Amino acid sequence: MKNSYLNLELISYNSTNNTPKDAAKVVFISEEKQLEKHNLNSSLSKKITSVFKNEKDEIITTFENSQGFWVIATTDDAEKNRKLGISLYKALAKENSETSILEGLNSLSDKSKNSFLEGLLMGSYEFNPYLKKKENKELKVYVSNEEFSETSLTQATNLINGVALTRTFVNEPPNKLDSVMFSERIAEAGKKYGFDVEVLQKDKIVELGMGGLLGVNQGSEVPPTFNIMTYKPKNASNKQPLVLVGKGVTFDTGGYSLKTGGHMSTMKSDMGGAATVVGIMAAVAKNELPYYVIGLVPATDNKIDGKALLVDDVITMMDGTTVEIQNTDAEGRLILADALSYAKQYKPELVVDMATLTGAAAAITGPFGIAMAGNKQEKMDELKQAGENTYERLIQLPFWKEFEELLKSDVADLKNIGGPVGGASTAGKFLEHFTDYDWIHLDIAGPAFLKDAQGSNPSGGTGVGVRLLYDFIKTRTEGGK
Ligand code: BES
Ligand code: ZN
Ligand code: ZN
Repeated sequence: MKNSYLNLELISYNSTNNTPKDAAKVVFISEEKQLEKHNLNSSLSKKITSVFKNEKDEIITTFENSQGFWVIATTDDAEKNRKLGISLYKALAKENSETSILEGLNSLSDKSKNSFLEGLLMGSYEFNPYLKKKENKELKVYVSNEEFSETSLTQATNLINGVALTRTFVNEPPNKLDSVMFSERIAEAGKKYGFDVEVLQKDKIVELGMGGLLGVNQGSEVPPTFNIMTYKPKNASNKQPLVLVGKGVTFDTGGYSLKTGGHMSTMKSDMGGAATVVGIMAAVAKNELPYYVIGLVPATDNKIDGKALLVDDVITMMDGTTVEIQNTDAEGRLILADALSYAKQYKPELVVDMATLTGAAAAITGPFGIAMAGNKQEKMDELKQAGENTYERLIQLPFWKEFEELLKSDVADLKNIGGPVGGASTAGKFLEHFTDYDWIHLDIAGPAFLKDAQGSNPSGGTGVGVRLLYDFIKTRTEGGK
């Protein structure tokens, strides 16, 4: 089974003698004055000048004078250049330009330049295993080592490959990716990208008393799995691990609180948080970042049969907390709670959980960003900065103690839903109950899966969170943290 669907190979060259003669030229122009050094005919130079006037980035395709593609970047803005990279891939694919040579990127700031390259790679993603007609073909782009070092090409490819892996897991239909198949593919990814994978099976999950994961799984014919990914390089700059926890609900029917009116459609994406964790592990391990990271993924579907969880049931979680079920569709927090309890044994420096947890978070952020809560402002601020760097932006939820009070139950320690208000915050408060370490919660229900393309993301799985956490980790290694 193929996991990554990037259709672009970046090839480093040190002299044009080493590039194919028939390669199309891709010329990057970021300042009007650069036009002078190209001997352009007047119609093309007029066109380019007008693009600069309108400050709207554009790609002009022309095959006059054996030229190919003119990429006009009018602003030094990272996200705009990322989008331009995506458009360039689409333009190359449209013209069947199988090999091309990129030039002129050096006038951009490093940030914009890297974003452009990221975009070019991101644009090459296609999920097509079940299509007869496959559109994207593998393109080769030659890049001078004066513009990008060979290492930076490899690192960008590995990072976006992590994004692609996440997108693929999210895009897979539920009959091709249940909890057991997901575990197999996580194990494959571990082998391929360089991290260890241990999969706890149902008997072990029972032994550990993971009542949340078992409760959600009760109505399914497929057993739950608990996936543990470890990347511990010798030169890690941190002693205590960063633990990433991802919600792995491979399909959310809602359970007996059944989803109605079309809300069930797209719920194959309810393992988006888990997929993001795997994508981050893959990118960090493949690029050998000196950082100790652990990924935890509880996986199950949320289905119904005669044994399924009922509303009014009381279950006992791994840490002994009892929970009164008031809505079986609030299942994500139940499986995450056990994973958060499991994380305590690592004495982590920080735990970041990622989940398509609430429609309420999606209503706040839309597809444009991620809702965040947590117990350590300093670390949330650090992550916010990574959000600005990568344009995977974070908005902090209100997290007052009153939200916690909404979870009080008469018959158990907690109930699994709050009141009619602040659904994203009460979900966060539920999770907080199971933590005893620095912790950040990311609700990615808005951006993880898109019906229509938005910004740098295609329709379907987006891989949101991979570039965010990668940037966060990379900055930490650079700061010696
Ligand atoms: N998986 C959903 C949240 C979701 C909704 C993700 C839409 C992506 C798009 C989650 O399990 C859920 O159903 N949450 C409920 C919680 C409620 C019952 C308290 C919700 O948000 O409605
Ligand atoms: Zn649900
Ligand atoms: Zn769910």
